[in-house]
Amino acid sequence: MRRIFLILVVVLLAVEHVWLLAPTAKRWIFPPHSHPAAEGRLIADRLGCLACHGADANGGFENLNEGGSEEVPALAGGEMMMWATSEEDLREWILRGHALDEKPDYDPSGYSAGYDSGRAVVMPAFETHVTDRELDLLIEWLRAISGLQFPDDAVVAAGLDLAHEVGCFSCHGPMGTGGVSNPASLKGYVPGFFGEDYAELVTSDVELREWIENGISDRFTKNPVARAIIGRQALKMPAYAQHMTEEQIDSLVALVGWLASSEWESVPIP
Ligand code: HEC
Ligand code: HEC
Repeated sequence: MRRIFLILVVVLLAVEHVWLLAPTAKRWIFPPHSHPAAEGRLIADRLGCLACHGADANGGFENLNEGGSEEVPALAGGEMMMWATSEEDLREWILRGHALDEKPDYDPSGYSAGYDSGRAVVMPAFETHVTDRELDLLIEWLRAISGLQFPDDAVVAAGLDLAHEVGCFSCHGPMGTGGVSNPASLKGYVPGFFGEDYAELVTSDVELREWIENGISDRFTKNPVARAIIGRQALKMPAYAQHMTEEQIDSLVALVGWLASSEWESVPIP
């Protein structure tokens, strides 16, 4: 009797262990891949950037000032170009709270930060709060959300406008840098258009078009395991065939191909 009880306990413990180890095993078999821009966004969240600049860095709240008020500026959608002239300038903004060529006559840090600036809220100096590595990742995030990439190819450019309009980047991350959470998906997030995840999901332009038109590729429809996983996940890839013209689909195929080539990452910002 005691023996049976002991065996039962051992079995229970073993089952519990396997259960606890399952997430680790899954991560080991299907390792998650994150883009530096997605890591940068997590850092922006942790450092409080999004509190002032808005959840999507599309602009924050009304900032009271002497003349009335103006919004805390957006970091996304091309607005950075109005405030900074180079990547060095962006680093200066983050580290010291102002552009390279304008020393403010107020203190951007301390308990009275911004007092005498004429504005209720000023850009803080993050010098003592951010490491070199974190600053690099923040820049990668700013690059992805900047809206300052202008593809030479007209078809790709049309695809980029369309992708912004219909929300491709809301699910796939800015410029397809991935990382948006997706419950019950294999890796826990919506994959981006880069690296190993993309290479596994899209092996040709034909498959790319299938994904965009039908929300899944023919290869995955034929694979029962892939079909089951994709069917279970909360966020699903929309099937755009019914909602778009052939020309629009063409532009998206061209765009995703261009994004996957990572060419945009070497375009200087702002
Ligand atoms: C307390 C609110 C606040 C926080 C937190 C904050 N900012 Fe700012 N930021 C501002 C304001 C306000 C400005 C406009 C300049 C000013 O009034 O000082 C600004 C300006 C900027 C600019 C230049 C303007 C532009 O649109 O390009 C950049 C870049 C910037 N912030 C990035 C960041 C980053 C990155 C973080 C996080 C590390 C951050 N900010 C955190 C309030 C904030
Ligand atoms: C509601 C969220 C959502 C939207 C909007 C969305 N997708 Fe997807 N997309 C997904 C999901 C989820 C997958 C499935 C990936 C998987 O197997 O986990 C996917 C898969 C893909 C794939 C396969 C390869 C890969 O790395 O993701 C491509 C290509 C793709 N989508 C392109 C687009 C384009 C282009 C648009 C805009 C026209 C778009 N998606 C809009 C959620 C979305």
